[in-house]
Amino acid sequence: MAAAKEHSNWSSKWTFIMAAVGSAVGLGNIWRFPYEAGQGGGGAFVLMYLGFVFLIGTPVLVAELSLGRRGQLSPIGSMLKIAKEEGRSSAWQLVGWSGVLGSFIVLSFYSVIGGWTLSYIIQSIIGAFDGITAEAAGALFGTMLASPVTMILWHAGFISLTMFIVAKGVEGGLEKAVTILMPALFILLIALVIYAAVAGDFAQAVSFLFKPDFSKVTFSVALEALGQSFFSLSLGLGSMMTYGSYLKKDTSVGKSAVIIASADTAVALLAGLAIFPLVFAYNLDLSSGPGLIFVTLPIAFGQMHFGVIFGALFFALLVIAAITSSISLLEPSVSYLQEKTGYTRKKAALSIGFGTFMLGILTVFSFNLLADFTFAGMTLFDLFDFLTNNLMMPLAGMFMALFMGWFILRKNLLEELAMTEKWFKLWYFLVRFVCPLAIGAVFVFLLYEKFVA
Ligand code: PHE
Repeated sequence: MAAAKEHSNWSSKWTFIMAAVGSAVGLGNIWRFPYEAGQGGGGAFVLMYLGFVFLIGTPVLVAELSLGRRGQLSPIGSMLKIAKEEGRSSAWQLVGWSGVLGSFIVLSFYSVIGGWTLSYIIQSIIGAFDGITAEAAGALFGTMLASPVTMILWHAGFISLTMFIVAKGVEGGLEKAVTILMPALFILLIALVIYAAVAGDFAQAVSFLFKPDFSKVTFSVALEALGQSFFSLSLGLGSMMTYGSYLKKDTSVGKSAVIIASADTAVALLAGLAIFPLVFAYNLDLSSGPGLIFVTLPIAFGQMHFGVIFGALFFALLVIAAITSSISLLEPSVSYLQEKTGYTRKKAALSIGFGTFMLGILTVFSFNLLADFTFAGMTLFDLFDFLTNNLMMPLAGMFMALFMGWFILRKNLLEELAMTEKWFKLWYFLVRFVCPLAIGAVFVFLLYEKFVA
C-alpha cells in the first residue's frame, strides 16, 4: 500500500496524457520501428502494424489503463485485488508478474540503446559526423559496438538518469519536462522529414513504407508487427497499468487511449519518413537492424547546415523520449517492491535500477564478447528482445483482454469505463473476440509455419 500513498495522483488529465504519451513515444518509435519496417519488407509490415495498433493495441491499452485505475496498486497487486473482487482465481496475478518481470528485462536492454543515444550526442558535438560517408558512419557505430567498456559506461549513465527521476517521483520535474520536450521532439522530427524530402529519395521511401507487398508477409513478420505495436504502445509490461493506478476516476480512459495511440503512431511514421529517404539515397542496407538510425542519421547531420546543432539536439531529444519511456519501465517493479517491502521509493528505485544495470551488461556483451553465443540463431540481446517483445507482451495483452472481456461483470466495466453505449459496445466486442482471437491466431499460425509447413 505504501506505493499508493506515497505516490499520489497525476496533477491533471493533461499531465497524465503527456506522461503516457511520453511512455509510448520512445526508442520504439524512432529506433525500433524503422529497422523493424526495414527488415519486415516495408508497406505490408506498416499496414499490419497500423491494424494492430488500432484494432488490438488501443483496446488493450484501455484495458490495461483501467485495470490499473481500478486496482490502484502495482500490476501484481492490482490484478490480484481485482480478481478477488470479481471472485476469480488468484492465478490472474500472473499477468502482473509477467509485466513486472518483462519490464525489468526490457529496461535492461532499453538502457543499453539509450546509452548509444547518449554517446551520439557527444559524437555530434565533437563533429564526428562532419561530412561523414556511409562507410565511415557504419565504422563509427561498429567501433562503439566493439567496445564493452564504452557501452557499459553509457548504459550506466542512462540507467542512472532513469533511477534518479524515478527516485524523485514522477510528478514535479518530469511532468513539466515532458510537456515541453515532447512537442520539441515532434517539431525536430518534422524538420528532419523535410530535410529527408529534399536531400533523400522521398518517393522511394514513401512507396517502400506505404505500398504493401504481401509476398513478403510471413507469420513471423506478422508477429514482429504485433510485438512492435505492443512495444510502441508500452503494453503488456505493467507500465500503463502502473500509470493508470495514479489516475483519478474523472479521466476518460477511452479518449486518452485514442490520443496516446494516435500520437505514438504519428511519431513512428514520421521517423520512417525521416530515415528511409536517406537509406535509399545512400544505398544503405534496409535490413541492417538495430544500427539503422545510428548509421543513417549521422550522414544527414554531417551534410546539413548547422548539422552539429541539429544532430546534438536530435539525439538529446531522443534521449529524453527514451527516458520518459524508461521511467515507465522502472515503475512497475519499483511499485511492486515498495508494496511488498515498504521500501522508500528511493531505495526501491536504486535496487531495481542496479539489477537492470547488471542484466544489461549481457546485452552489451551480446554485441562484442558474446556475439557468437547464440540460441537458435539469436544473440542474447535478440533473445531478450524476442522473449519480451514477441512473447510476453502480446500474451499478457491477450490475457488482459480476456480478463476484462470475460471475467469481469459487464456492469462493473460500464461503471469503470464510463463510455457511451456505442463506444463501449465496440470496445467490448474488440476485447472479447478480436484481440484474443487475433493474437492467438498469430501464434498458432506461427507455430504452424515453423514446425509444420
Ligand atoms: N513504448 C516505449 C517505446 O516505444 C517502450 C516501452 C515499452 C515503454 C513497454 C514501457 C513499456 O520506446
